Amino acid sequence: MATPENKLAFDGGWEYDPAPEGVEHIRAKKRYGLYIGGKFVAAEKGRTFDTINPATEEKLARVAQASELDVDKAVKAARKAYTGPWGRMKASERGKYIFRIARIMQERAREFAAIESLDGGKPIRESRDVDVPLAAAHFFYYAGWADKLEYAFPGRKAKSLGVAGQVIPWNFPLLMAAWKLAPALACGNTAVLKPAETTPLTALKLAEVIADADLPPGVVNIITGAGDTGAAIVNHPGVDKVAFTGSTGVGRIIQKALAGTNKKYTLELGGKAANIIFADAAIDQAVEGIVNGIFFNQGHVCCAGSRLFVQEAVAEEVIQKLKDRMETLIVGDPLDKNTDIGAINSSMQLEKIQSYLEIGQQEGGTMHQSSCSVPETGYWCRPTIFTGVSQSNRVVQEEIFGPVLAIQTFRTFDEALSKANNTPYGLSGGVWTDKGAKIFKMTQSVRAGVVWANTFNKFDPSSPFGGYKESGVGREGGLHGLDAYVKLGV
Ligand code: NAI
Ligand code: MG
Repeated sequence: MATPENKLAFDGGWEYDPAPEGVEHIRAKKRYGLYIGGKFVAAEKGRTFDTINPATEEKLARVAQASELDVDKAVKAARKAYTGPWGRMKASERGKYIFRIARIMQERAREFAAIESLDGGKPIRESRDVDVPLAAAHFFYYAGWADKLEYAFPGRKAKSLGVAGQVIPWNFPLLMAAWKLAPALACGNTAVLKPAETTPLTALKLAEVIADADLPPGVVNIITGAGDTGAAIVNHPGVDKVAFTGSTGVGRIIQKALAGTNKKYTLELGGKAANIIFADAAIDQAVEGIVNGIFFNQGHVCCAGSRLFVQEAVAEEVIQKLKDRMETLIVGDPLDKNTDIGAINSSMQLEKIQSYLEIGQQEGGTMHQSSCSVPETGYWCRPTIFTGVSQSNRVVQEEIFGPVLAIQTFRTFDEALSKANNTPYGLSGGVWTDKGAKIFKMTQSVRAGVVWANTFNKFDPSSPFGGYKESGVGREGGLHGLDAYVKLGV
């Protein structure tokens, strides 16, 4: 019965009292140096840059900007640790250090989560429930492999590679650092890692954890800077392996730079994942999954479900339910536990998203945004869907990396499949149906590294992740993730 209360709820009229996560427990410095050889040091040329809170545009900290000289210092420190204590250490001892990192990170989870939300703009609910626990889980998982590599590669001898150069993006800063460092260390390598320029703080906090865990100096070096610092890591002759996550454009530059060298590499690049809803799917569950797939973390997710294909018979129902659900999403203060969609990571990223909103409309798409209000300062984008778009439209083909969903319909299985595969990317996908046979057929035919069935955006350290086509080269996570950090011999 429509009581006044549930009518209010249906209209999206509930008001939530603010429930902000406190920040008084955080121990963050106003200035950070580069973490090289077990110490925080200033950049050789003394250059620095600021990192801001994208929700308020306030400066959070000033961090050092590493030049080629600093990269060289970091690589040398990593080499010294590799040929020294870390390389000589028994694998079971190495494992203990990695377990220690995992435990300390868990103890400081609340602090990591708050800093992640401050620096990058993601809702505290995500940094608290996804980013930080998963980052710790990766260290736990790979710590267990350190002394069991002979079981990971039966009959083969797994030898470490040396110094790993690792460059990561701003969408999952701590989690990406964990994805890169944990397997590298477990396999006996040392590392030089660079976080993205808009989100350096949790990686620098991780450097503190690494120091507290007493890792020998130089095993992990964390240096900050922008693209030129990243390029200096990639091109340094002392680096034996490059691991990169970021845009396909930069991935291409890196792949060219590494061609003809002996460096091993993995590249995790962009995506344009298709979610496919068949008429026999549990529709409410599917709508919830679609919302999670594209609005989660402001759509700053390489495997975001940014294309939706819905079977014609249920298209109207699904689109209406999506619109209703979008109205209830709360956009705002990332530190508020009620927030569903936080701040866009940077003004540049916001401009890029806005340009796609223009493009989508110019191409003839119908744009629908939720009617919620957004704060006046900071970078925000309301959840957005496009209907009436076609395969050739740029909003259907290109990675937007924002909370923008392009919706198309289909009639038959084959039509859905060919539309889903009509993309230069191949990172992930999702299928929603009541029929197991359709799940098997679709998951085997969609050209994507990960395909979820009746769920989306689920991660576990034991399962590999990575793409086909322009989405990258190699796999991270699970046993496959170890392979990227070893040379196999007999
Ligand atoms: P980006 O690819 O430029 O940045 C990622 C990382 O690479 C950062 O640490 C950056 O400092 C570093 N980098 C930049 N140029 C480099 C170079 N020449 N050599 C080595 N390292 C370099 O991504 P950006 O500019 O932050 O975002 C642009 C677009 O890329 C986004 O709008 C989004 O579409 C896509 N992107 C995709 C990501 C993914 O996980 N698939 C992550 C971040 C961005
Ligand atoms: Mg920032």
